[in-house]
Amino acid sequence: MPAKIVAGNWKMNGLHGSLNELIAISIAAKNLNCTTVICPPATLVWAAAQTQDIISVGGQDCHDKAIGAYTGEISAGMLADSGAKYVIVGHSERRSEYGETNSLVKRKATIAQASDLTPIICVGETLDERKAGRAIEIVLRDLTASVPGVSDFIVAYEPIWAIGTGLIPSIHDITEIHDALRNLLTDRFNLAGEKISLLYGGSVKSSNATEIFACINVNGALVGGASLTARDFIPIMHSLSNS
Ligand code: PGA
Repeated sequence: MPAKIVAGNWKMNGLHGSLNELIAISIAAKNLNCTTVICPPATLVWAAAQTQDIISVGGQDCHDKAIGAYTGEISAGMLADSGAKYVIVGHSERRSEYGETNSLVKRKATIAQASDLTPIICVGETLDERKAGRAIEIVLRDLTASVPGVSDFIVAYEPIWAIGTGLIPSIHDITEIHDALRNLLTDRFNLAGEKISLLYGGSVKSSNATEIFACINVNGALVGGASLTARDFIPIMHSLSNS
């Protein structure tokens, strides 16, 4: 069975005081039947990793090179050195705002693995693609071109139109995409493909988490807005643990 994982993506939110939320989240994570990951802004990765060892810390992005003259960038090795265990790559905000391509995402995932980080590779369709009946095609195309050669990664299916909007696909549509992702991964990686955790992301909240986690090939969630406070995030962690 794939590991059950709930990951919080704080995006460009969080100052030192936010570590109080992280501590409350980590206390709640004790004895739960799932892995909890928080991806704070890079400025908090080291401090977050120092505060406790119950939950894991992740980065939100990394460069595709190990070292060099790339002003402002952060390498996978730096994240690992700061205590991160995971890194999100190919988030739709990176793909749309910074022009990240599938081949760049694949290189980032590959260097993350080489730096002992588990990449969380994001894919998802736009609303126009969903309306045109092309969601599965787009998601499979992008995942195929974004995954590294080794199966030690996590996939997050995040429909772009569901991120931060309060909208989610129907349970039927989530199931359909996740089943297609699982088939692709088992075709590509055989038995190892059955063990890759598939997360759903996009407007996950305590009110919809239980029905999303009931889908057979949904092994957890990548949560944005509802991961910023312990009050909103802890019920989602409980839903996954009980699923
Ligand atoms: P959201 O963001 O939960 O706020 O919709 C999800 C994400 O972007 O990972």
